[in-house]
Amino acid sequence: MLRTHTCGDLNLSHVGGKVTLCGWIQVIRDHGGLLFIDLRDRYGITQVSVLPERSPDAAELVKSLSRESVVQVVGEVVERPKEAVNRNIATGGIEVRADSVKVITRAESILPVEVSDDKKSNEEVRLKYRYIDLRRPSLQSYIEKRHVVTEAIRRSLGELGFLDIQTPVLVRSTPEGARDFVVPSRRYPGKFFALPQSPQLYKQLLMIAGFDRYYQIAPCFRDEDQRADRQLMFSQVDLEMSFCDEEDVYTVVEKVVSDSFKAGLGVELAPPFMRITYKDAMDRFGSDKPDLRFAMEMKDVTDIASGSDFEVFRAAAQSGGRVRALAAPGCHGMTRREVDELTELAKAYKAKGLVALKCLDGGMTGSAAKFLSPEMQSALISAAGANEGDMLFFTADKPIVSAVALGQVRKALGRKLGLIPKNVYKFCWITDYPMFEWNEEENKWDAMHHIFTSPKEEHIEMMEKDPGAVLGRLYDLVLNGNELGSGSIRISDPALQRRVMKVIGMAYEQAEAKFGFLLKAYNYGAPIHGGIALGLDRLLAIMLDLDNLKDVIAFPQSSQGASLVDDCPNFIDPKQWQELHIKPDEVALENMED
Ligand code: AMO
Ligand code: AMP
Repeated sequence: MLRTHTCGDLNLSHVGGKVTLCGWIQVIRDHGGLLFIDLRDRYGITQVSVLPERSPDAAELVKSLSRESVVQVVGEVVERPKEAVNRNIATGGIEVRADSVKVITRAESILPVEVSDDKKSNEEVRLKYRYIDLRRPSLQSYIEKRHVVTEAIRRSLGELGFLDIQTPVLVRSTPEGARDFVVPSRRYPGKFFALPQSPQLYKQLLMIAGFDRYYQIAPCFRDEDQRADRQLMFSQVDLEMSFCDEEDVYTVVEKVVSDSFKAGLGVELAPPFMRITYKDAMDRFGSDKPDLRFAMEMKDVTDIASGSDFEVFRAAAQSGGRVRALAAPGCHGMTRREVDELTELAKAYKAKGLVALKCLDGGMTGSAAKFLSPEMQSALISAAGANEGDMLFFTADKPIVSAVALGQVRKALGRKLGLIPKNVYKFCWITDYPMFEWNEEENKWDAMHHIFTSPKEEHIEMMEKDPGAVLGRLYDLVLNGNELGSGSIRISDPALQRRVMKVIGMAYEQAEAKFGFLLKAYNYGAPIHGGIALGLDRLLAIMLDLDNLKDVIAFPQSSQGASLVDDCPNFIDPKQWQELHIKPDEVALENMED
């Protein structure tokens, strides 16, 4: 046996026993000839003492070792003297007195990155030496937690009768919106596979095939710009079910999410989760992923503000815009500079500006106050739900702009004022999304989610007349201000599918070329079906209170979208270009020469 115990096993009950341990040398301490090794593996740390008089060869050898070398230690478990007991670790009551130490591999004396959560090295270097970085206790625990949560999800879905079915990783381009990664074909010159952005079309085919309840922890690939909450390759808990409506999907997801929080954090959630319509979410929180961990809701004060002499308010109201108010509790003392920062934030979200007025002495003070009569001031204060001593913020713009900009101000204030509690998990379903959104650049309607989403039954008739008013049967799951998942009840009627495509200006031939195989499949008997995909990396990052998805992924891409541990993307052999029937262009050639 290479080891009898792990480095986390031993305690007072083992005293007197002979053991063999294997692990990494975390640190060697030399107490004037008497050596102590902290020996580490996934399970913990055990202190090993090497006494020169007991094992002179071992002592000599250990002195020559660098930390992170891997050794095998044979020795006896002894109780530590009282003053040496370490209550912080499970093995802190004992140590192993070495009889022999054998080197399995020596580590270089200078490590490129630290194995310590206190002294973190630069991220790029850490990703390059990810196998050392992953030895950090925090990352070990996150990766283990990912396993625990994933298992809970599998168990939960299994209990509900969902089948885990793998779908291909070489697929036809899916119309999901992001850019595809493509793989050139050697056998079919000029043709390409794509890596799936999600298993969307396949899971619909599985429903048509009669599998009724499918799930998969699916790798998804999207060639989009990296952000803290995005990766080029990420994982979805993807599921689809037949003969269902929204309620069925909600019930399944609420159970799966509750089970995973129970397993991962020991936290009991309380389903059913709150539901908020898209319109309400925008009006109250200025976002379709509202952070419900703090209240501070916005109010629409257009009707009152439109009657004021303040040009900013009047103009917005008269041109079909909205005036929205947000009361920041107790913030009348905010400095000019703080207000300017919030104004810049609102402007970054397309607002023309941000009005800030202090609620003092029963009225308002601030530069715009002079345009507001005392009656108007008190009407606004009461409509906004503001109190004496608050700061009132207003945006006056197009409905969506005034909502989004003030929503961002709300979010920033929530953080700034310390209103966001820790270890609180506020879920909600956002429902009643518009089916289509107007694409300003291309002057056309786009599908809000994907084109397979079904419109609400009662809105089907207005689809051609008034696309903007049609609500879709689509829903998002939101957790603490993050979009955790997105899904819909799909269209199962080919005629309706064609009408939807027409609204977004997709010609039948075009649709046929892209996903004709799915349209065709509908003609051979399709059940009503719907589903959702949850971002697994996001779920874990929120559970573990991490800002960056990288921490819950063993081998993430860098912020520049490269895999540093194996240094790719990389150049390939010119022979491969030939075999694949592709040629580098000028830019690529130049890059290859550098
Ligand atoms: P959608 O594109 O909204 O829906 O994706 C579902 C969820 O996946 C997560 N996600 C990401 N996580 C990390 N990095 C990314 N780049 C990234 N992109 C998305 C998010 C998101 O909510 N096929 C549909 C689902 C369906 O209709 O059933 C889909 O993929 O948490
Ligand atoms: P101005 O009339 O441009 O001098 O703006 C007066 C104040 O109103 C400034 O504090 C602006 O930031 C603010 N403001 C201007 N336009 C808007 C708007 N559409 N919504 C909210 N505040 C605005």
